[in-house]
Amino acid sequence: MQSAMEPVPLGDAGVELTHSFNLRPFWMPFTSNRAFKQKPRLISSASGHYYFTPDGRRLFDSFSGLWTTGLGHCHPKIVEAVQKQVARLDYSMAFQVSHPGAFELAEKVVDIAPGGFDHCFFVNSGSEAVDTALKIAIAYHRAKGEGTRTRIIGRERGYHGVNFGGMSVGGMPANRKMFNGSLLPNVTHLAHTHLPEKNAFTRGQPVHGAHLADELERFVTFYDASNIAAAIVEPVAGSAGVLVPPVGYLEKLREICTRHGILLIFDEVITGFGRVGAAFASERFNVKPDIITVAKGITNGVIPMGAVLVGREIHDAFMNGPEHLVEFFHGYTYSGHPVATAAGLAALDAYREVGAFARARSLEQSFEDAIHALRDAPHVADIRNFGLMGCVELAPRPDEPGARGMEAHVKCFEAGLVVRNGMDNISFSPFLNSTPDEFVQTFDTLRCVLKTVN
Ligand SMILES: Cc1ncc(COP(=O)(O)O)c(C=O)c1O
Repeated sequence: MQSAMEPVPLGDAGVELTHSFNLRPFWMPFTSNRAFKQKPRLISSASGHYYFTPDGRRLFDSFSGLWTTGLGHCHPKIVEAVQKQVARLDYSMAFQVSHPGAFELAEKVVDIAPGGFDHCFFVNSGSEAVDTALKIAIAYHRAKGEGTRTRIIGRERGYHGVNFGGMSVGGMPANRKMFNGSLLPNVTHLAHTHLPEKNAFTRGQPVHGAHLADELERFVTFYDASNIAAAIVEPVAGSAGVLVPPVGYLEKLREICTRHGILLIFDEVITGFGRVGAAFASERFNVKPDIITVAKGITNGVIPMGAVLVGREIHDAFMNGPEHLVEFFHGYTYSGHPVATAAGLAALDAYREVGAFARARSLEQSFEDAIHALRDAPHVADIRNFGLMGCVELAPRPDEPGARGMEAHVKCFEAGLVVRNGMDNISFSPFLNSTPDEFVQTFDTLRCVLKTVN
């Protein structure tokens, strides 16, 4: 078995081409299906920081799953908790009936959330968390007698999942293009904060760009605050290639929202649970939103789950009317699923036991140094980082945007390193319990790969 973390001779290992099953029926998500099926990249098991292929190759995971698995794969305590739970209570009715684990997890999540977030609505994914948050925001204003507040402010290059709400407030042109005529009507987008001409190769938060938040003030003038329900942003935009908020930007958004009674939603599906060296990005940036969405790290990626966190004022606005009636006509069959809550409880215990968020914080400098060492590598156009989130942006091939990033991804896989590429952005989401040595070897391997990429 090769040592996956050495800059191995590239292209010699290849990928598994023989398999006993039919690749055709599974229509893969966010995947170039035709290319994949000609040359599949399959993973059959995982442990700690490594994946294993069906033919026994070991691959280092530089992305913690898909921003999900900060504690490493197959964490023994989470595995045990899930195994016990599925044998004890596999499912229990979610509406008008519940089970203890859902209450226990809600309490533990609000315990580590910023002060004042004392209610937690469970969902099954980041996309569901976002659509739920948008519905809560609109319904909250209506409950308060401000039913005209229905407009939502999103942001270019934002990613808030793929359901209709999240897609509408999101700002990824490729995700929106096919559905242009069917997106939510009352949505306006702030400009994104990516200013490479001023901020390229910034370490941490860029200095330029706080003024871009002032656009929200312009929207208030144009639409009138009485028509605006909420503004939603990722504190650090992840899927667009790690766009770090400029110094002062989030604070400005907060101030404008507060002044005009607009709810500020932080989509912390990626940044929650230690990714930026604190339980939540809102704690790290010291900017408190009104609603927080989470998913991914809540169970360490083991069982699908998400949640929406709100404070008492929003929650209590719904608690009117006869007590026998449902207050919020929303929820999912699997909201607070027993096995997911067991995974969540075990994950939260594990984060606490090993001090995972502080550990992530202590690794930031070595991660930053290692990723920025790639500045002079072939094709590198920009490097961005914050917390344990990083992106190496490659210059696109003139007529083939995305092809270079894809080639790098495939060649890294062949070299024993799993990286995430979104077009020509190669993003990194290392484990919260990484070692500095792993960072160095990850970027050494990427450097070797980039030397062979067209
Ligand atoms: C910020 C953000 N919001 C929402 C989502 C959607 O989450 P899911 O894929 O679990 O629906 C993602 C997924 O990456 C995300 O990064």
